[in-house]
Amino acid sequence: MKLIGQGRTADIYAYPSNQIMKLYKSDFSFEAVQNEFRITQILYDKGLPVPQARVIIDEANRQGIVFERIEGHTMFSMMFGQPLRLQELVHQLAVCHVELHSQSDDQGVLPSQKQILSGAIRRTQLLSEEDKTRILVYLSSLPERTQICHGDYHPDNVMVNEMKDSCYVIDWMTGMSGDPAGDVARSWVILKSASLPEDADPEIRLGFERSRDTIVDGYTNHYMHLTGLTWKEIESWILPVAAARLEECLPGNEAEEVLKFVQEQLNQLNV
Ligand SMILES: Nc1ncnc2c1ncn2[C@@H]1O[C@H](COP(=O)(O)OP(=O)(O)OP(=O)(O)O)[C@@H](O)[C@H]1O
Ligand SMILES: [Mg+2]
Repeated sequence: MKLIGQGRTADIYAYPSNQIMKLYKSDFSFEAVQNEFRITQILYDKGLPVPQARVIIDEANRQGIVFERIEGHTMFSMMFGQPLRLQELVHQLAVCHVELHSQSDDQGVLPSQKQILSGAIRRTQLLSEEDKTRILVYLSSLPERTQICHGDYHPDNVMVNEMKDSCYVIDWMTGMSGDPAGDVARSWVILKSASLPEDADPEIRLGFERSRDTIVDGYTNHYMHLTGLTWKEIESWILPVAAARLEECLPGNEAEEVLKFVQEQLNQLNV
């Protein structure tokens, strides 16, 4: 099978009949694979722009999901392959996020944003117990909503089919129901703090650093323009979202950046 993509959690192979197989690393739990399969199916059935999840298979002691293959490239690769279109792509990134958020999890079948965030905040070892308690109390005061949220929405999890002029969202392992403002805040934190892997093409790394502000500001402003959401509403989620992100094994400089957001926000908090 031909390897067509690699992420932190899986290797992606071309698969017969216009499909791909996402083969998870061997230490990846079966429960998490089932979760991604189930969530992607639910969203596909709702008519959202996601690849159809076809079947779960076992391959050499690893689990894999066979998905419909999306024709096209990731938004991330297009941003650097076609820099003149950066602004247009950044707008498309916002449009597609708005489309996901326009639907809700009426039947309550997705994990809840507040539960996911509070679990991650409790598990991080980078915050004191006292700070965690303050953040958890604050989190409980934020709006309770049930819109479809991705939980890891960034340009490498969006694919663009130029023939159809449409976007598809992949990698639904962290799909959840919650407040779109929290989902946008998470994208903001990722875009502001993410560093590309050490072995990434140096030109792409430089290009990303140069366009980071254009991407994050363009995406956030266009999202607000399309929905009427305010910066205050997005900002109100930065604290719990950044604190929860500390639970992931981030590279040192990235963890430092995220910790800075947490400290800044904690300093402004009155609980
Ligand atoms: N349905 C699909 N059709 C075509 N290409 C795909 C599809 N799903 C994934 N890919 C390719 O594989 C890459 C990795 O996929 P995905 O984001 O699902 O993996 P991951 O290991 O979860 O990534 P991450 O590093 O974000 O955790 C994508 O960037 C894309 O290039
Ligand atoms: Mg991914």
